Parts: sequence; structure tokens; C-alpha cells
Amino acid sequence: MTGHGLPDDVLLVHGGTPLHGTIRVRGAKNLVSKAMVATLLGDAPSRLYDVPHIRDVEVVRDLLELHGVRVGEGAEPNELVFDPANVESANVDEINVHAGSSRIPILFCGPLLHRLGHAFIPDLGGCHIGPRPIDFHIQALRQFGAVVDKTPQGMHLTAPNGLHGTKLELPYPSVGATEQVLLTAVRADGVTELRNAAVEPEIIDLICVLQKMGAIIKVHTDRVIEIEGVPRLGGYSHRPIPDRIEAASWAAAALATGGDVTVLGARQVDMMTFLNVFRSVGGEFDVLDGQGIRFWHPGGELRAVALETDVHPGFMTDWQQPLVVALTQASGLSIVHETVYEQRLGYTQALNQMGATIQVYRDCLGGTPCRFGRRNFMHSAVIAGPSKLHAAELVIPDLRAGFSHLIAALAAEGASRVYGVSLINRGYEEFEAKLAALGARAERL
Ligand code: EPU
Repeated sequence: MTGHGLPDDVLLVHGGTPLHGTIRVRGAKNLVSKAMVATLLGDAPSRLYDVPHIRDVEVVRDLLELHGVRVGEGAEPNELVFDPANVESANVDEINVHAGSSRIPILFCGPLLHRLGHAFIPDLGGCHIGPRPIDFHIQALRQFGAVVDKTPQGMHLTAPNGLHGTKLELPYPSVGATEQVLLTAVRADGVTELRNAAVEPEIIDLICVLQKMGAIIKVHTDRVIEIEGVPRLGGYSHRPIPDRIEAASWAAAALATGGDVTVLGARQVDMMTFLNVFRSVGGEFDVLDGQGIRFWHPGGELRAVALETDVHPGFMTDWQQPLVVALTQASGLSIVHETVYEQRLGYTQALNQMGATIQVYRDCLGGTPCRFGRRNFMHSAVIAGPSKLHAAELVIPDLRAGFSHLIAALAAEGASRVYGVSLINRGYEEFEAKLAALGARAERL
């Protein structure tokens, strides 16, 4: 911390230079971390390629190692090999070192119950974008037969009578709760039917991982997933889907700064909804088949749009913050209705401080009334543009909002101090090197 109570990891960003160049995205953070947890379920080694060097991966690797999984580097750069031959109980104090650092530990419940008959899960972390309850997870685990004991330190789980297949319906298609059910049901006794499941590409990719390990999982229409438990699973070898959140973040940065960025590894099929909006705003892109996607600002005016975030195949909530920075440069009134998280618009205050005109509302400003409408959450935004952004002192509040602050600083006139930039390492691999490769002028203070 600095003398003023601000984080001491500071980036000085000189704005006003359009980003130009080529960068690469690796395996999706939101798949890689889950695929790593899945290795616990196998009785043979697993191999994961294209693993990004990010903080979330380090946390999960550490937790796996604490539980006896041997993790080593593979022959390729960014390849990890996991050997779960000696899974064992970990020391609670050692696990607790990771309290508050990530959301992933909650997904250790099912695999550890299968392997050890008990589990301890530390207090969770992740981005502060709403209360982020875990009630769906706990309800599901109890339905499988787990006994969950919540203590101030964390959660203790046991399964005195084993875990059994069950019929579940999620109140909302939660990504994490769907993964919880998958990672528990694959080795539970009998068949599990999950209704109102999330079907994000990262979930389908996790299903592919589990299928490689020997699981039997059927994805039906209308968000129904059926899992037939099997008595044993082996290892897997998997190249994950690319990080479509990171890809969209760089695309938004190209648009907001008037630049031209090629994102190697980005894949059209996972980003179709984003690409439609990008084009409606006035951005151009070229799909370089098998290689990536080039995104650029063609010059002239950008256009305002109305959009709602939603579960897949809707517009991802994680694409919202980076794109809003670009929308401050569009002519007219853009409307954003955030329907996945109740508090994901807090970062707009910082943009206003930089000269943007964004007003947030409690009302559902979109075609679909959402579950936050009558609950007093500021979850809609109207963005009036174009606005000239100017430099400011910014403190990064969470991962995606943090990257948006960075984009705003790059688009603004003058030099901004961005405090707490290390948080961005949770989900963006080597972002400072990538900024440099794109010609941005940014230096650590
Ligand atoms: N929810 C509940 N109860 C639960 C679980 C979820 O009410 O037990 C609610 C949440 O509060 C939220 C909604 O359901 O309002 C959706 O949450 P979900 O469970 O789908 O989110 P998650 O699994 O915690 C993952 C990603 C997020 C991404 C969301 C939505 C990971 C590690 N995180 O979170 O990614 O925004 O799905 O797609 O996979 C990020 O990468 O920065 C990030 C926040």
C-alpha cells in the first residue's frame, strides 16, 4: 500500500496512442481452471495444453499439489501434466492460505468427496461484482448426499453414504453450479438429470474433458444435461478452447483507441454474439480462419447500440465492461442492461471521472425484465457519446472492470495512474508485455 492507502502496484499509462499489432490468447481461464480440478477424478495422469500463466491457474495448481496431485511441465511450452495417483487430505491451514483468492475451490467438493470421502473448502474469493452466493452449489451437493457443515473458516463436507445421482433444476443457469453438478455426477452412483443448466462453450469444453476421461454425459435441448455415473475415470489430454473474454477485451481496446489488433487464437464460433455487436457499433473484423481474428476501427463515427448481457448464447457479462469503454466513443445513446450480475456497473463511476457521460438505473432498460428489476440494483446504464476521455487516477476494483480502466486510460488524453494493476494478472496473461507489443506506452512506477 502507498502512504495514501492505495495499492502500490501502479502502471502509468500514457493515453492517446491507437493499439496496433498482434497478440495471442491462450486457453480460456474459465475452462482451464475447471479442467485442472477434473484431474482429481481420474486414476491416470492428464495433460492440458495452452495453459495461460495467470494467477487463477497458480491458485488451482497449488490447491491440487496440497492434495497430493503431482503437477509438472510438459514437453510443449504452456503444457501441464497432472498425476493424481496419490491424492490425499490437505492441511486446513495450508488450504486456507488461498481463502479469498479465487472462486474455483468450491469446485473441489465433488472430486474430493469421491476421492477422499471428505473435503474442506476455504472461504471463496473472486471479483466483487455482487454477493455471489453459493446456495445452488450447496443445495446440489446435499441432493447428491453430501453433508455440508459451514464454519467461519470454511466448509467441511462429508458423504457418509456415498454420492448418488439425482434430479436437479437450477433456479438460474449458473456456470459454476452446472460445473459443480458435472464434476460430482460423473462418478456418483446412478443417473443425474440437471435442468436449467448453463451451456456456455467453456462448459461444453469441460464436458469434452470429462468424456475423454470416460464419463457419459448427454447434452439435450432446452438446457437439460443427463449424466450417467461411472465407477472409474482415467486421465485426459486436452487443448482448451481459447479465451473469448480476453479476445473481446483486446477487440474493445482496439475500437476504443482507434486501433487495429489481431488476436491470434480467437475463434469466431465462441464469439458470434460479440462480433455482431462489434459490427453494429461500427468496428470491423476479419476472421483469419484457423489463426485468429483481426479487429479494427475503420475511422469515422462509431454508432450507439442497445444490448443486454445474458447467459449463453447471449452477450457475455464479461464482455460488457470492455465494450462500454468503446461505447463512450460512439455517437448517441447506448443502453446496457446487465442481467447476470446485480452489481457490475460500479466501474462506470471511474469512466465518468474521466469525462464519460454514463448514468446508471435500477430499472430494467431492456426487452427482458430480469430478476434484478424490482430489487433496487443499479443494473442498467445509458451511455451518451462521444466523449473525450481525459487522464485520471484509477484504482482497479475487479478483473474485468480493471481491464476496462486500462482501456479507458489508453483511450484518454494524458497520463493516468492505474493502481492495483496486479489484479489484472488473475485473468490476463502477460498483459503488460502485450500492451508493449501493441505499441501502448505504459510503465510501472
Ligand atoms: N448464483 C446464485 N447462487 C449460486 C451460484 C450463482 O445466485 O449458488 C448467481 C450469481 O450470483 C450470478 C448468477 O447466478 O448472479 C450467475 O453466476 P454463475 O454461477 O454463472 O457465475 P460463476 O460460475 O461464479 C463464471 C465465471 C465468471 C462469469 C460467470 C458468468 C469462472 C471462474 N467465473 O462465474 O467469470 O462472469 O460465470 O458467465 O468461470 C471472470 O472471468 O472475470 C468472471 C467473473
